[in-house]
Amino acid sequence: MSSTSNETTAALAELDRLESEGLTAFETLATIPDWEAARVVFLGLKQGRLKVAQEALKTLPGPDRKTYGQRFNAVKTALEVACETAKTKLDQSVVKTAVIGEDLTVPGTARGFGRRHPLTQTSEELIDIFGRMGFELARGPEIEDTFHNFEALNIPADHPAREPLDNFYLTPKTLLRSQTSTVQIRVMEATKPPIRVVALGRVYRPDAVDATHSFMFHQIEGLYVDRGVTMANLKSTLRQFAKSYLGQDVTVRFRPSFFPFTEPSVEVDMMWDSSGRWVEMGGAGMVDPNVLRAVGYDPDEVSGFAFGLGIERLCMRRHGIDDIRPFYQNDVRFLSQF
Ligand code: PHE
Repeated sequence: MSSTSNETTAALAELDRLESEGLTAFETLATIPDWEAARVVFLGLKQGRLKVAQEALKTLPGPDRKTYGQRFNAVKTALEVACETAKTKLDQSVVKTAVIGEDLTVPGTARGFGRRHPLTQTSEELIDIFGRMGFELARGPEIEDTFHNFEALNIPADHPAREPLDNFYLTPKTLLRSQTSTVQIRVMEATKPPIRVVALGRVYRPDAVDATHSFMFHQIEGLYVDRGVTMANLKSTLRQFAKSYLGQDVTVRFRPSFFPFTEPSVEVDMMWDSSGRWVEMGGAGMVDPNVLRAVGYDPDEVSGFAFGLGIERLCMRRHGIDDIRPFYQNDVRFLSQF
C-alpha cells in the first residue's frame, strides 16, 4: 500500500466519518421532512458534506488523489443508495398509515336520505293527476266557521251532522273543519264559473281510533262548475282518476247516497283486492241548487259536480296497507318503505 500524506490521511478519515454518519442518519429517519433535511446535509449539491469532501480532492497532493477519489466514489454511492432506500421506506410507511388510519379508498358510509311522508307523496301525485285533467289547486283554512262548514253546504242549524259530539267545536261558531267541502264554498264565493279546482287537506272528526278510523285524516275535494256539467262527467272524471292513480285494472262503482250539498249523491267504492271486497273511496254528487244559490250562482245557468275522497284510503289501496294508524306514528321503519 502506498504511503499517503497526513493531509490525505485526515481527508480519508473524514470520508469514513461522513460515510458512517450518513448511513446512520438515513437509517434512523422517521419522517419525510427529516429525510429531506438529511439529504441536504449529506448530498446537497451546494454545501452538502459530500460536495465539501469532493472539493477537498483538489487540495490533496497529486499522487493521493486516485486513492481518495476511489474512496470518495464508494462513499458517494453508499450514501446515494442509503438515501433512496430511506425514501422508499418512508413512502411505504406513509401509505400504510393512511390505510390503517384513514383509508381514502374504502367506500364511505352511505348517508340515509330523508323521504317525504307517504301521504305527502300521495297528495302530490293526486294534485298532479287532477292538474293534468285541468283542475287547479285551491286551499282553505282548517279552522272554519259554521257557515262554511254547514250552512252554505245546505246543512241547517238543526241538522244532526252539526252535533257537538260529532265535531270539534272551538267556539259555538267555529270548529276544526269536518270536511274539505268548505273549500268549495270559499272558491265559489271568490270566483265566477267556470271553476275546476281540487283542495286537499286535513279534516277532523271525533271518531275512535282503529284500523280504519282516525280523529284526523286527509281529503281531496274536487269541484267543477260550468254550463252543462253532468253526472256522466262526474263518473268519467272519477273513473279516469282511479285508473291513473290505482292502475288501469281498478274497478270503481257508484252507489246512490245522500249528502245535503249534492243532489243526486253517490258514494264511490273501489275494489280493494282480488278478494272482491269493496272499500269506500269517498262521496260525490251534483252540486245542490241550494248551494249554487247560496254563493250567488244561478242554478238555471250553471251546474256542477263535487267529490270528496279519502287520501289515506287511496294511499292504503295503492300500497296494500291495511291499517291507517302507522301514517301518524312516525315510525321510521314504516315511513322508510315509501
Ligand atoms: N264532504 C263529504 C264527506 O266528507 C264528501 C263529499 C264531497 C260528498 C263532495 C259530495 C260532494 O263525506
